[in-house]
Amino acid sequence: KLPEPFQVPLPIPPVKKPIRSDAKADYYQVVQRKASLEILPGLKTEVMGYDGLLPGPTFDVRSGRTAIVEQINQLDVSTVVHLHGGHTPAPSDGWPLDLIMPANGQHGGHHMEGMEGMEGGDTTMGRRTYTYPNAQRAATLWYHDHTMDYTAPRVYRGLFGLHIIRDEEEDKLPLPKGDREIPLIIADRAFDADGSFLYPALKDGPGVESKYMEGVVADVTLVNGAPWPVHEVDAVRYRFRVLNASNARRYELGFDKGPATFVQIGSDGGLLDKPIEHQTLVVAPAERFDVVVDFSQYRPGDEVTVVNRLDGNANVMRFKIARKAADDTRIPATLSTYAVTPRPNGVVRREWRFRRGDAGSHRGWTINGKAFDPKVMQAQVKLDQYEIWTFVTDVHHPVHVHLAPFQVLTRGGQSKLSEFDHGWKDTVDIRPAEVVEVLVKFSAHKGKYLIHCHNLEHEDMAMMAGFETI
Ligand code: C2O
Ligand code: CU
Repeated sequence: KLPEPFQVPLPIPPVKKPIRSDAKADYYQVVQRKASLEILPGLKTEVMGYDGLLPGPTFDVRSGRTAIVEQINQLDVSTVVHLHGGHTPAPSDGWPLDLIMPANGQHGGHHMEGMEGMEGGDTTMGRRTYTYPNAQRAATLWYHDHTMDYTAPRVYRGLFGLHIIRDEEEDKLPLPKGDREIPLIIADRAFDADGSFLYPALKDGPGVESKYMEGVVADVTLVNGAPWPVHEVDAVRYRFRVLNASNARRYELGFDKGPATFVQIGSDGGLLDKPIEHQTLVVAPAERFDVVVDFSQYRPGDEVTVVNRLDGNANVMRFKIARKAADDTRIPATLSTYAVTPRPNGVVRREWRFRRGDAGSHRGWTINGKAFDPKVMQAQVKLDQYEIWTFVTDVHHPVHVHLAPFQVLTRGGQSKLSEFDHGWKDTVDIRPAEVVEVLVKFSAHKGKYLIHCHNLEHEDMAMMAGFETI
């Protein structure tokens, strides 16, 4: 039996504190461990969490200030950490075979997932240090597990968290701040009667039962780790950093009653050039939308529910408007001055076709007809030059590229974009049988990186490809 919605207050993940700092960097330590959390009232759920939390702690860092994060694996499975949206050197990017083996792992008895095919990976025992230069504009990033073949079940059990980069350009804007700037990390999960997570994993090896080929969707919506939470707000503007951390579910977020709208100020890669007002917000897995909502349009005592219009107006969370309050924030007409790059001529073009296909043993999804093979690089990409990448789909796929953000140029052959395509993106939601072109330029870091579908079951079923920056 599912709990009543809107009973649990919205949790805010704690901000991670460095263990020390010097002129060069801030140093952090994260312990990946199991923990027993009360997610559903009155029940205990065993999670795999960064610091035992779901979601993990939020990194809140300054642009240009290096974060050095030591990850300690106290789980009984191997893990990999990826900073999604990070402009990260390859050894710290979380290549799916750069495994952190469990510190307490016995090599004998216990089944060590992810041990298969370790060739092509740089494995460490018990811990690994990741270097994040944060040399990029202010943006809402997130970090999550990226273990080959097992990303979906690891993230499902809790290995995800936010990584917010701030800079002076953004600080200067009169946007809501402090406790009026709130992350909303949305993820659907299913629970057994005893409170444990239900995930339809195969018993003997990676992958999910074949009826979950399209990905795993579940009946409980968690926001910041709480089921259909409630949050009390003043009748003023709030800034919400929305992340869809679901394995496979898309949301079209809307309010059950007007007049509030979502004024988008940022995308995956930070501020838009100018705000865009949306009636509803379509968010595919891994996408981020930075939005401002003006609750002064409601009266104290009003309640407004956020619903998912793609799922029969299913509940997501509720806001209770508590009281009137002063508000000196506003949304400037110009947010940022980055140039929207015009389509350059004579650039390198590549096509990436995302399709159902069995190109390997337990696989199911392919890119350019190939299942992910960590030994195969599907492209060699020169640094510092624009490329136009064309993504082609059969069914819906949220496509993600590591290392560099991109701008969407065309969708469905039209130079007109969808209302959600603006700004710097690292994940683009491609609808069935659609063609999307993006402009991308990699810089600074040479090495092996990934392009993949961010439907995590598709990713684990091999819809992923390596490319090398040279
Ligand atoms: Cu958020 Cu390669 O992933
Ligand atoms: Cu997909």
